[in-house]
Amino acid sequence: MTAARQLVIAIDGPAGSGKSTIAARLASKLGYINLESGAMYRALALKALEQQVSLEDSEALRRLAEGTVIQLEPQPEGNRVLLDGRDVSQRIRESDVTLAASRVSSHPPVREIMVARQREMGAGGGLVMDGRDIGTAVFPNAAVKVFLDADARIRAERRIAQNGTHTPEEAQRIIEDLVARDQRDRTRSVSPLVPAPDAVILDTTNLSIDEVVSRVEQLVRSKLETRN
Ligand code: CDP
Repeated sequence: MTAARQLVIAIDGPAGSGKSTIAARLASKLGYINLESGAMYRALALKALEQQVSLEDSEALRRLAEGTVIQLEPQPEGNRVLLDGRDVSQRIRESDVTLAASRVSSHPPVREIMVARQREMGAGGGLVMDGRDIGTAVFPNAAVKVFLDADARIRAERRIAQNGTHTPEEAQRIIEDLVARDQRDRTRSVSPLVPAPDAVILDTTNLSIDEVVSRVEQLVRSKLETRN
């Protein structure tokens, strides 16, 4: 195994900042795997909705998380997500699950369990993990940490484009949901969405996907050079 395979690359940022697209492209260029940590919170949120577990009940959510098997299978087009063996890859992207994920993830006991599992998944290195707290809490020693940001309006527009056809009312709801989720993620008491002190902050408002990928790739290459 080469040195290049060992690195952990943390990509954090708010919704619509381009994390998962950038992480997937970067991973495929480097021959790394890409794990989307948000998909784990989404899968747990789906189970909570299905089993009518209160999204406010920390203890019930902790028990639910403990008894749940969530598998992420990297594919070229993103992670395939299995919830207790069932493929929920599409369902977890819907708006009810998205909002529920942001609520579920604000509970410290839930985060503790998820962070431990994410560390196990990334123990071998050679991966790009994206989320909100990868550089601050999950892998504080990650070799490369990038925090992607962009104006809220641009981020909402990207999300609307991603979601395909929609009415003006649906578009408005996407914007409102994104702003509400951002606010919750940034102000929660445990692992709020903030850049790690040693993260490189990239404002992607006026950058294309290719430009962002190549900048992050440069960071990785220079890290690899200094290591060899
Ligand atoms: O792709 P998008 O940014 O819309 O969402 P995501 O990365 O799938 O994350 C969904 C939700 O999970 C976020 O709004 C966060 O509340 C939570 N999350 C988190 O708390 N920590 C992570 N490492 C990843 C996601």
